[in-house]
Order: sequence, then structure tokens, then C-alpha cells
Amino acid sequence: MRASRSDWTPESWKVFTALHQPSYSNAAAYEDVLARITEKPPLVYPGEVDQLRTRIARAASGEEFILHGGDCVERFIDCNAETIANKLKILLQMSVVLSHAARKPVLRIGRIAGQFFKPRSNETEMINGVSVPSYKGDTVHGFAASEREPDPERLLTGYFHAASTLNYIRSMIDGGFADLHHPYSWNLHSIRDTANWDEYQEIVENVLDSIHFMESFGGVSDASLGRIEFYTSHEGLHLGYESALTRVEGAESQRRWLGLSGHLLWIGERTRALDGAHVEFFRGIANPIGIKLSSKADAGQVVELCETLNPQNDPGRLMLIMRLGAESVSEALPPILEAVTSRGHQVAWMCDPMHGNTTTLSGGRKTRAFASVLQELEESFRLHREAGTTLAGVHFELTGDEVTECVGGSIDLNEADLETNYQSYCDPRLNYAQSMEMAFLISRFLRNDR
Ligand code: PEP
Ligand code: CO
Repeated sequence: MRASRSDWTPESWKVFTALHQPSYSNAAAYEDVLARITEKPPLVYPGEVDQLRTRIARAASGEEFILHGGDCVERFIDCNAETIANKLKILLQMSVVLSHAARKPVLRIGRIAGQFFKPRSNETEMINGVSVPSYKGDTVHGFAASEREPDPERLLTGYFHAASTLNYIRSMIDGGFADLHHPYSWNLHSIRDTANWDEYQEIVENVLDSIHFMESFGGVSDASLGRIEFYTSHEGLHLGYESALTRVEGAESQRRWLGLSGHLLWIGERTRALDGAHVEFFRGIANPIGIKLSSKADAGQVVELCETLNPQNDPGRLMLIMRLGAESVSEALPPILEAVTSRGHQVAWMCDPMHGNTTTLSGGRKTRAFASVLQELEESFRLHREAGTTLAGVHFELTGDEVTECVGGSIDLNEADLETNYQSYCDPRLNYAQSMEMAFLISRFLRNDR
């Protein structure tokens, strides 16, 4: 059912079908938590959201390149200084490598400070031979098999974990963590003996050399080397939580609503139905928004999503995050590029080479092959070049820690190695070495395109 599109409110989604929402047995307790979240300050400020929108518009037209990445799902236990610092560090180091290769600024957006909710394809999963409700994120319930009953108090706990993560990121940036004069260590020891090492080492040396040159030349102020911008994002899945953090802004004539749980929110592949509650909610918030699109999306649907979610065709409003899979990308991407561009829709085209390349091993572990991730990226760069469109950026599930979740890369992690340190509660992430190597390899494509 679709109500009239003119009567949007932060709660108008409620008359549409909302998929992947937890069901709370105590409705009064749930409403009470939402009311308390509504009274809390928003997590981000409207001016920052507007800056991000401007920068996404610049990336869409090829003036910047976007690096969007982080965990599949954030865990409350990872809300600690070291893990947060590692998450920021990997994105920073990748971004300087990419920026150096592309000769343009890199816009960094973390899947961080709010990526606590997961849609799941199956309602149940097996843990030690017992079927339990699938894990949907720490803001919904606990990870332990015995804690899978949704608990509304966890929404508030999630809000505070997001606030604490964001506070630490902001203070690290203000305190000089991102200062390029003092590059934090590049821990590349694990790829030191591999075939491409000479090339990688040369890239790092060139990057550091350029920083020193800028400093000594004096053409760049100290302030611009020491300060970076960093934006947060997550899937806007839990509509009760998102609407509790949606706030009105501006004088009467320019009143607008913003989802202030993060700078950028995206609609997932499983909840992007045109007549669904998520599309209804997202059409009314003024943030930049992403839409995840798998190879199941047809070009007509994508065009309709663009029309519904960006009727004014504002640049910087829409990011189409294509997660098509290495096998499907060459068939699936061109018709969508053609349909969207021929109708004049301005969008930022992103490549998420993770979500279409997930495999499940016989023991039940999910993994992704580094080679498939790279192949989808390479194909995407080529297809955009052939279509005359711009690949605005890349979207990864990654972490700055030494986990063992994806196979391959020059560290040659194999299936047996996955048990060594598999931490993810949901999808497998590239680890520190695999992420850095991915940035070095993307550098080749960016140099070709410039
Ligand atoms: C995700 O980004 O973790 C995710 C669930 O993606 P998608 O909606 O593309 O499946
Ligand atoms: Co994921």
C-alpha cells in the first residue's frame, strides 16, 4: 500500500510494509525507549550532512574519489580505543594511497558509529546444532544463542555506543591522530616477501615523499595536512530508531527533516522495495542516501527508485552502491548505467565488490575471495570507462585488525587459516594487509583513468 506522497512525516512509513524489523514482545517498553531516544541530542550536525552531500556531488562528477568502508556489523565489544583507532587508521592509510594515485581528494566515509543492525536472509541459524533466531545486531539482541530475544533497551545502548565511538573519532582527529606529518606506522610486514612488494613499497615511498615535499615547499598549510574530514554511515534499517533520531531543521519556509543518526544512511538490498516502508522513510529525509543494488535489480526499478528518492535530481543526494558480483557485473551493470544516465539522473556510482562475492564453506563459515573482489572492481572500472560514466568510489567491508575472514591476497590466507582469528558476527572483512593491498591495486586502475 502506498499513501499519498505529499504527506510525509518521520512516521509515515508505518502504513507501509516494513521488512526486517525486530518484533518486540513488550510494545510499551519499546515505545518508551524510542521516546527516550527522541529526547537525546542527534549524533551528527546538519551542517556536516550538507558538506557531505556537496562532496558526494563532487565525487559523482569525478572531482573526488570516495572510500566507504568498515565492518559488516559493529559489535559493542569493539567499542574500545584500540579497535576504533585501527578502523580510522586503515581508512586513512588507504585514502592517502588512493588520493596519491587518483590525484584528487578522497572522501572518507566509515561504516561506523551506528552499523549495529543487520537484515538476515534466513530467520534462523544453527548454533552448535541448535536452531536459533538469526543474529540481527547488538542493538537488537545479544550474540549468544541464549540472548536472541529482541530487547528494546539495547536501542538506547546502541545510541550510546555510537555516541562514544563518534566522540573518540572526533577527538582523535582534533588531537592530531590523522596528522600526515607523523604518519602512524604502516604495518606492511606481512606482505613484505610477496611478489608485488617492490611496487607497493614504491607507492608508500612516493606517498611519504609527496607529503614531505608539500611540507618543505610550503604550498600547503600545516592545518590542511593535520586535519581531515571523516563521515559516518550505516544501513538505515531499524525504522523506529531512525525516526527517533530524525529532526526538523530550518525556518518555516525552508523546513526540512534530517536523519541525524549518521551523516549518510543507506537502504539495503533487502529493503529497497518501491512500495516498502524504507523507501517511504528515506524519501523524506534530506541526507545524502545510498541504495544497495544486487544483480536482481532491473534497470526500470532503479530508475523508479531515483525518481522517488530524488525527484528534484539534486546532485549529491543519491549514491547507487552496486554489489553485483564478479560473475554478474559485466552483464548487469551496463543496462543500469544506460537507463539511469539516459534519463539524466545524477547519481554517484559506487562499487561494493564484497556483497556479491560471498561464499559459504561446508562448515558454515562465510568467506570472500580477494581475487573475486579485485575482479569485480577491475570490471567496474572498465565498464564505467566504456560507458563514459564515472565510478565515484568503492565500498568495502574491512577492518584494521589482523582477522582471518577473507581468503587470498598476497598473504595467501587459505580456508584452513580462517579459524585462526575469525571475528565477524556477520560478513567476512578484508584484514589490514588485504585492505592495504587492495588500495595499492586500485591505485593501478586510478592511475589508468586519470
Ligand atoms: C551490508 O552492507 O552489510 C549488507 C547487508 O548489504 P546488502 O544490503 O547489499 O546485502
Ligand atoms: Co555485510
